Amino acid sequence: MALPNLQVNRLSGAMGAEVLGIDLAAPQADETIAAIRALLLEHGAIFFRGQTLDDARLKGFAGRFGKFFRHPYFLPEGDPDIIVIRRAPGDTKIVGEGWHSDTPATAAPPMASMLYGEDIPPYGGDTLFANQYLAYESLSPAMRRTLEGVRAVYSDTRVAGASQRRNAQSATKSREDETFRHSEGVHPVVRTHPETGRKALYIVRPLMLRFDGMSEAESDGLAEFLYERSHRPEFTCRFRWETGSVAFWDNRCAQHAALNDTGPFHRIMRRVQLAGDIPA
Ligand code: SIN
Repeated sequence: MALPNLQVNRLSGAMGAEVLGIDLAAPQADETIAAIRALLLEHGAIFFRGQTLDDARLKGFAGRFGKFFRHPYFLPEGDPDIIVIRRAPGDTKIVGEGWHSDTPATAAPPMASMLYGEDIPPYGGDTLFANQYLAYESLSPAMRRTLEGVRAVYSDTRVAGASQRRNAQSATKSREDETFRHSEGVHPVVRTHPETGRKALYIVRPLMLRFDGMSEAESDGLAEFLYERSHRPEFTCRFRWETGSVAFWDNRCAQHAALNDTGPFHRIMRRVQLAGDIPA
């Protein structure tokens, strides 16, 4: 199997790189998968263009990097490993519009996510990414010491379930049935990446309730400070989608945010997530 000649173009000084010269629908040699994994670890998020992936091919490529993670509350339209992320004209809520790392209200959040752009509007709908190694490294030594051993409690109570009624505002449908049970996760605010060994800030404000052992009032000030720090402009890159683009990001060291600025246009994406370990 011939190895592709990968061309790597960085998106910003902080993170993110486009990887050109590969057809993800084709069978890939182990060496190619290892090279792509190394690029993901180096850049935090990598992007491919001009791909044609049906669900089987998307899973065929993504599955080379690990086992699939089943999302706890988005309703699949077919294959349970794939979530179709839809934005319709008039939607007031979209998936992923606040800065976040994916699905922290689980014991073992997904290590990575892969998103395929199936129908991309002529403008808008970009995705922003932020480097959480840089966010951690920007903290003073005293703040880093303060955060040692601090854990945050996450729940999906604010984003899913019968009480939220989000399905009326969003074309992407979540569990709202009475049998849905919320999930929870409690994770360190500074996590060590299991593959690179580097420390990264890990705070996902949209799903965070409080710090473990503290009240919400005690938690809020520090949580807001860390959340703001997690996405300073100089830690970010911005990806402009085209139909057939693929984004592959590492949830252990990157946050992302989707923009709901596509006016009268639809935006349709297909996403798979890869199982991760318990943040340490
Ligand atoms: C997500 O948060 O996974 C969705 C990102 C996007 O649609 O750009």
